[in-house]
Amino acid sequence: MLKVEHLTKVYGTGTVALQDVSFEVEDGEFLVIIGLSGSGKSTLLRSINRLIEPTEGRILWNDVDITALDEAGLRRIRREIGFVFQEFNLVERLPVLTNVLTGRLGYVPPWWSLFYYFPAQDRRRALDALEQVGLADRAHHRASELSGGQKQRVGIARALVQNPKMLLADEPVASLDPVLAHSIMGYLERLNQERGITILCSLHYLDLVQRYATRVIGLRNGRLVFEGTGDDIRHMTDEEFKQIYGEEAQRLGG
Ligand SMILES: Nc1ncnc2c1ncn2[C@@H]1O[C@H](COP(=O)(O)OP(=O)(O)OP(=O)(O)O)[C@@H](O)[C@H]1O
Ligand SMILES: [Mg+2]
Repeated sequence: MLKVEHLTKVYGTGTVALQDVSFEVEDGEFLVIIGLSGSGKSTLLRSINRLIEPTEGRILWNDVDITALDEAGLRRIRREIGFVFQEFNLVERLPVLTNVLTGRLGYVPPWWSLFYYFPAQDRRRALDALEQVGLADRAHHRASELSGGQKQRVGIARALVQNPKMLLADEPVASLDPVLAHSIMGYLERLNQERGITILCSLHYLDLVQRYATRVIGLRNGRLVFEGTGDDIRHMTDEEFKQIYGEEAQRLGG
């Protein structure tokens, strides 16, 4: 279980990106974070595994205070919490398999990884993960040779070899067309339903939110302004919609 308590982030520039944000996530949930550009979604997701240092507040993961961990503790906890990036963050010149193997970095001695040396067992695990996202035949291609959707599947495979209990995905489909977007979201949904991996995912498009979320939180100017179930969002009123997206916001479609 994840508990975010009174989380605040003020960047060096003085920008208050998160203000006193509190919520909980039960194991097995598919929580989607919505909000306008600049509302704090990335800051929130990145704070959870401390890619960003929170200014105030606590983040408890199964009763471990992530905000108080030292380097070694953080390394341990990051094995349990995978991260999927909007821009994939692959090393383009390296083979797909090596990219996936970097997901095992939390498990091998740091100096091994300098030479991209990984145990045979890890290589098997990485091939397995590629198989799961339908890319086993691309293992030895360079990452730069893949399409956007394939790159994101590599990103998911890389998170999978960590054997995570929770996946943080920051707009994982923002740079993909609608068909690929559903295909990637489908992989996340399967991991959630079949392997019980908790998912926290920020999304821009409401139709995706409505399709995949079991619970939704909404941010506006760094504050939590909405909390509801997937059903709530499927039946959202104009008032609730405006709370999150502002008075001028208009729904596309119905
Ligand atoms: N490294 C940074 N330094 C200073 N300010 C930042 C930094 N990163 C983000 N911000 C600011 O913090 C606020 C929240 O940004 P954040 O990236 O978390 O929003 P977001 O909801 O992810 O937006 P988007 O939908 O565009 O990705 C914004 O005002 C942004 O300009
Ligand atoms: Mg963002």
